[in-house]
Amino acid sequence: MRVLVTGGAGYIGSHTVVRLVEAGHEVQVVDDLSNSSPIVLDRIEEITGVRVPLDVVDVTDRGAVTAILAQHPVDAAIHLAGLKAVGESVEQPLRYYRTNLDATFSLVGAMADAGVRTLVFSSSATVYGAQASPPFEEDLPTSATNPYGWTKVMQEQVLRDVAAGDPRWRIALLRYFNPVGAHPSGRIGEDPQGHPNNLVPYLAQVAVGRREKLLVFGDDYDTPDGTGLRDYIHVEDLAAGHLAALETLAAADAGGVRTWNLGTGSGTSVLEVLAAFSRAAGRELPHEVVGRRAGDIAASWADPTRAHRELGWRAEKGIDEMCADTWRWQETNPAGYDGPPA
Ligand SMILES: NC(=O)c1ccc[n+]([C@@H]2O[C@H](COP(=O)([O-])OP(=O)(O)OC[C@H]3O[C@@H](n4cnc5c(N)ncnc54)[C@H](O)[C@@H]3O)[C@@H](O)[C@H]2O)c1
Repeated sequence: MRVLVTGGAGYIGSHTVVRLVEAGHEVQVVDDLSNSSPIVLDRIEEITGVRVPLDVVDVTDRGAVTAILAQHPVDAAIHLAGLKAVGESVEQPLRYYRTNLDATFSLVGAMADAGVRTLVFSSSATVYGAQASPPFEEDLPTSATNPYGWTKVMQEQVLRDVAAGDPRWRIALLRYFNPVGAHPSGRIGEDPQGHPNNLVPYLAQVAVGRREKLLVFGDDYDTPDGTGLRDYIHVEDLAAGHLAALETLAAADAGGVRTWNLGTGSGTSVLEVLAAFSRAAGRELPHEVVGRRAGDIAASWADPTRAHRELGWRAEKGIDEMCADTWRWQETNPAGYDGPPA
């Protein structure tokens, strides 16, 4: 297939592009590079031997997306572009609603005009909100605890309505749990700008000396060691999930929307991740327990049964491999893509 990947220069997008290229698909990346580096395309070429073309375009610009689809006809799109920082979304809600929703309106409108109606969308476990206890399965009602989460709930609804209005659409809503890890080559990985919001990128920066110590937000949750439990999934497994979803949509007898959790199905605590990362880095990493962070829930993990059954996909890599691969990437790229090499 020829596949348009929005946000393809980003963390999850770059690993997904590698997987698509390795499976023989032809990829066109659209990314405005607002949270990524053009060097990613060089690294993808190093890994795959294929130069993937990049259009530096804001996906909210429907005219520009229409022009790209006219110039490079595709069979399907994977839509990862968007803003994703929870805290920033609380401070700048209008920017988050406008960017994330407009990106989806623009892409779906341009795709419909071009007659392309197969779409894989990056959703998130954040749509399970705070009301349920894990494991989370796809038919639970959706809600959110912050504007970023609401943009995912709303984009899912928009896509369900689009498919209801025109049954030719084939749409996958992929609800990612907590993506971590990096390509085993160490050549691509997560490169957060500014203060990392997530545990593993933060730990990676502690390990490389960019941060003093890990702050553990609360050790008085109702969990075995008192710290929060999350379903960490290796980004390589996530990339494989995109490929499986795309190929399943393309082979389906009929259109419609399908929702799949992409997670391992088990929770790992903050202290267990700290121990795993310390093993990977070969030394004890410093940490300090502080108060709970507003909006955090005690535990979240997926029920991945539907993805096993319908996609023939399951996550294979464990927390030690996730930390070892993250560490390889961080150690050899201590300041990310644009900094000097180690
Ligand atoms: N990383 C996570 O923990 C996580 C979890 C669940 C869902 N997601 C979703 O997965 C997707 C990818 O996340 P990621 O972690 O790879 O983030 P990322 O920031 O690394 O990737 C997003 C990419 O989109 C680009 N982009 C942003 N706005 C754009 C616009 N208007 N036009 C064109 N390009 C634009 C950025 O430059 C970046 O390259 C996002 O939609 C995110 O909400 C991420």
